[in-house]
Amino acid sequence: MEPTEWAGVYRSGKELYTLNADPGHRVYGEELRTEGGKEYRQWDPFRSKLAAYLLKGAPSDTFRGVRRVLYLGGAHGTTVSHLSDVLPEAALFVIEKSPTAFAPLLALARRRSNILPILADAQLPERYGADVGPVDLLYQDVAQRAQAMIFGENAEACLAAQGLGLLMLKVKSVTQARPAAAVLAESRREVERHRLHVRSTSDLAPFSREHLALAAHW
Ligand SMILES: C[S@@+](CC[C@H](N)C(=O)[O-])C[C@H]1O[C@@H](n2cnc3c(N)ncnc32)[C@H](O)[C@@H]1O
Repeated sequence: MEPTEWAGVYRSGKELYTLNADPGHRVYGEELRTEGGKEYRQWDPFRSKLAAYLLKGAPSDTFRGVRRVLYLGGAHGTTVSHLSDVLPEAALFVIEKSPTAFAPLLALARRRSNILPILADAQLPERYGADVGPVDLLYQDVAQRAQAMIFGENAEACLAAQGLGLLMLKVKSVTQARPAAAVLAESRREVERHRLHVRSTSDLAPFSREHLALAAHW
């Protein structure tokens, strides 16, 4: 197991791993591996767009100095659990609006002290923004039509001056015939309308063919 350029993320061969903050427990059926008396969890880029983003060339400072995270669209906690491993000292505020997904997220949070789940709609940051406060990392994966607007409004509510925003942008879907380039251009305009600067966009293929990662800052 080798450390990678992203602090808290490890590699063995082509596979990424995180140090399991909850030894002996899997979150989504991932492989557990013990080496040197430490247990690691395999981080599947086909299941987690954040792992895909790293493998597609994310900068080495992606997690540097991150103490507070606002995560929109936590679902059952697949990616949240790996962020919880990567940032053991950080507070991860996780917004999820589906009560069905919130139940396993809550169960995960009971086992990991750095996860703070909030049952809320990410379209209404005024409901939780004051509780969350300024964050160093805003991560969004909600797969909604208004995804860029949600990202901009949450950045305005919570992203600190030096913070990084990462939007997992759904650009293709089986039910929508719009070209990915048009969705990206429109989303970029919306993000910029909120005065954010787009730092990069990365294609997440072959891990996800429906999403791009858009990184932005003030
Ligand atoms: C693609 S899944 C997220 C997967 C998760 N990020 C991961 O990698 O483990 C999208 C999630 O966003 C949630 N969601 C969609 N719209 C939302 C909104 N407006 N506010 C909060 N959560 C939302 C859905 O309920 C779903 O659980």
